[in-house]
Amino acid sequence: MKYDRRVQLGYREVLRRIHEDLRPNVYCEIGVHYGHSAILAEPGTRIIGIDPNPTIEVDLLPDTSIYELTSDDFFDQHTVAGAAGSPSDMTFIDGRHLFEFSLRDFRNAERNSGKNGVILFHDCAPPLEWSDREVRSGDAWRPAAALSEF
Ligand SMILES: C[S@@+](CC[C@H](N)C(=O)[O-])C[C@H]1O[C@@H](n2cnc3c(N)ncnc32)[C@H](O)[C@@H]1O
Repeated sequence: MKYDRRVQLGYREVLRRIHEDLRPNVYCEIGVHYGHSAILAEPGTRIIGIDPNPTIEVDLLPDTSIYELTSDDFFDQHTVAGAAGSPSDMTFIDGRHLFEFSLRDFRNAERNSGKNGVILFHDCAPPLEWSDREVRSGDAWRPAAALSEF
């Protein structure tokens, strides 16, 4: 799939297109909230959702398991392979939007990914100088920036 930088797509549309392109067998989502991003997976996907406080308001796909835990607790107690039958092919990190949390989520996601696993971050664009985004959205953009630099 080609992403055209001139066209601004909402993150859920981007996520939906990535699902459509990659068709992961196992999809892991950290930070499920209402379920609005978890339902973007293609039918047949095995979905592991992790959130200490999910308030699902959509009909999730049949093969979805929601773990009512923080991501740290989930990865302390479970593995994606144990929960889903095989490691994650695609993980979306959209939980606690702070550097140390999202870096730990990345490390745990990597450990729980298959050989060709893909890991996506929400809110990974650094704030612009004039913006108050860091105040509003935390600093979950830092791990993605560090990973691309190092
Ligand atoms: C921005 S919402 C997720 C939105 C959802 N991915 C979507 O696009 O519709 C963030 C969610 O992360 C959850 N959360 C907060 N701390 C967390 C943690 N330590 N581990 C996992 N999820 C966490 C919150 O309960 C909240 O539901």
